[in-house]
Formats: sequence, C-alpha cells, structure tokens
Amino acid sequence: MSAEIFAKANTLLGSIQNAAPKTKDELEQFRIEYIGSKGQVKKLFGEIRNVDNDRKKEFGQLANSIKQAAEAKFNEVKESLEASADNEIEVPDLTAPGEPFGLGARHPISLITNKIIDIFGRIGFTVAEEREIEDDWYNFTAMNTPEDHPARDMQDTFYVRDDEKKLLRTHTSSVQARIMEHNQPPIRIIAPGRVYRNETISARSHCQFHQVEGLYIAENVSFADLKQTLLYFAKEMYGASKIRLRPSYFPFTEPSAEMDIYWGLESETDYRITKGTGWLEILGCGMVDPNVLKNCGIDPEKYSGFAFGMGIERQAMLKYNISDIRYLFENDIRFLNQFEGAL
Ligand code: DAH
Repeated sequence: MSAEIFAKANTLLGSIQNAAPKTKDELEQFRIEYIGSKGQVKKLFGEIRNVDNDRKKEFGQLANSIKQAAEAKFNEVKESLEASADNEIEVPDLTAPGEPFGLGARHPISLITNKIIDIFGRIGFTVAEEREIEDDWYNFTAMNTPEDHPARDMQDTFYVRDDEKKLLRTHTSSVQARIMEHNQPPIRIIAPGRVYRNETISARSHCQFHQVEGLYIAENVSFADLKQTLLYFAKEMYGASKIRLRPSYFPFTEPSAEMDIYWGLESETDYRITKGTGWLEILGCGMVDPNVLKNCGIDPEKYSGFAFGMGIERQAMLKYNISDIRYLFENDIRFLNQFEGAL
C-alpha cells in the first residue's frame, strides 16, 4: 500500500518539476492544480493516513519537500513574469492628436523694454548693456558727480564694498561712461537695465527697478536734435501729439530738462495721473556736460551730444494702467497671465 502512495508522490514531484507555466494564466492554473486548497499537494498530505506507520515520517518529509518544490516554482515564475512586465515598453499611440499648450506671457517690463529698443532702433540706436555692480567712478565721478556732490545723496546707494567703492549702479547713466571710454563718436546707444536704490518699498517706489539710458554723441549735435528725437519717441510710444521740456538739473547734462508728454484730460484717470494738468513727466534729459565727455576721453571741443534716461516701471504702469509697482516684482501668475500674447 505504502509503495503505491510513494510512487504517486514521486510522480507528482516529477510533474511539478516538469511544469513550465509561461503566462500569468498558466501560472494561476499551476497554483490551482498543485498549491491551491483543493490542489494535489494538499491531497497528498491527506494520504498520510494510508501510509504504514513505520514510513509515515519518511512520507511526511517527502510530501513537505514536494510542497516546497511547488511553492518555489510558483514564486520563481511569478517573479520573472513581474520583472518582464516592468521592462515592457508601453507603445504610445502615435496617431493620437497632440496636447495643446498655452502661450506664455512676456513680463510687462520686457514688453516695454522691447518696445523702446524697437522705437530707437528704427532711428539708428543700438543696444548697449553693462554690469550692475559698478565702480564708483562710472556711476558717479565720471558722470560729473564727485564725492562731495550733493546729488549723491539723492540716490541712496547700496555699496557692495565700501573700501573699494563697489556699488550697485543707481542708474543706467553709468553705461554712458563705459561706452564712451572705449568708443569714439559717432556714438548712438540705448542702454536698458536694472538699477538699485536703497528706497522704502511702496506702491510708487522699489529698491530695484529698470531704466533705459540714451546717448548720442557726434559733431554738431544740438538741443533741437534732442527735442526731435524725444518727440518721435513720445509719438511712437504713447501716440502723444505734444511734448514739453521743463528746465531741470542733472550733474551729467548742461542744460538739463525733464520731458513731459501731453497725455490729455478726458477721463477721471487722466485727471488723477496728470494731477489735473494733462501733462505727464516721462524722462530726464539734456546736453552731455563737457566734463563728462572729458572724463571719458572724448574731445568736447569737437563733439557734443545729448542723453536721456527714463524708468521702465513708470512707462509700464502708464501704458498698462498698473496701480502698484510691486505687482511688477511679485511674479503673481494671475497678474502675469494678463499679458499673454502681448507684444
Ligand atoms: N540718471 C538719471 C536718473 O536716474 C536720469 C537721467 C537724466 C539720465 C538725465 C540722463 C539724463 O542721461 O540726461 O534719475
């Protein structure tokens, strides 16, 4: 009796060893057939009561090893099936339509800067860019603003290293000195860039902002040239019909002026932003002071020129009706999205 059962057990072991399930389904079949609660291994254990007492122990060991063999095979095949599933590359549907993506938005500061570059580019001004960490010389002294000059107090300067007189430029006028130092006239540049002043942040002012500087040096440049250039700009930029130049003071220009554009007085907003006058201050300008030319290695007897400078944030706020300068630096996506597609 026992011999027959032992033979059966060995046959079962043989078929487990020979089984080679290749798919998930086949593996499941294997499990049900051998390991499951109604499987053959379970049945084999049931046979133990028919085995002679003196061989029960031997049979038990055999049955256990058959059970282990079945489980080992199951686990091995399962793992290898899983590993190959991990390696499977999902083939995308190449005929599926593409996913649409939204247009980005340019920052209003970039929009205005590009506009200004474009307007002056059309009359021959090229773009010059320079460093933001500047020497005292280029920011102040070369620009006719020596150390004891009261104008230095007007621009609250961030010093990087007090001893070496390195500072964050307070205006883009420093680019004038840099350019004149290495070029002889005719010079016709505009210099957009970031500037810094130690000012309290409010709706109107910030400690970092942007300016565009303009410089034209050649023979016989006159104040009339300056005026025509600025009128052209005011028309192109704002569609303004009139400009006016009010006498002013800057250390690097003589004479100096501030340019207003005629904005109009049609709406309540016009009244508010022009303080009821209809005129709006846009920029500072003037004829380059001969001292500046001399400081930068250009002969003031032979050449003359004009310069101007304006804050870009102010232009952006006017153009896009932005009420608080801080919006321009906070990168709030709800604000920036409004400029989507703008050029
Ligand atoms: N640098 C001046 C400022 O930051 C602006 C300025 C005024 C620039 C007159 C000029 C100029 O070139 O001629 O307020």
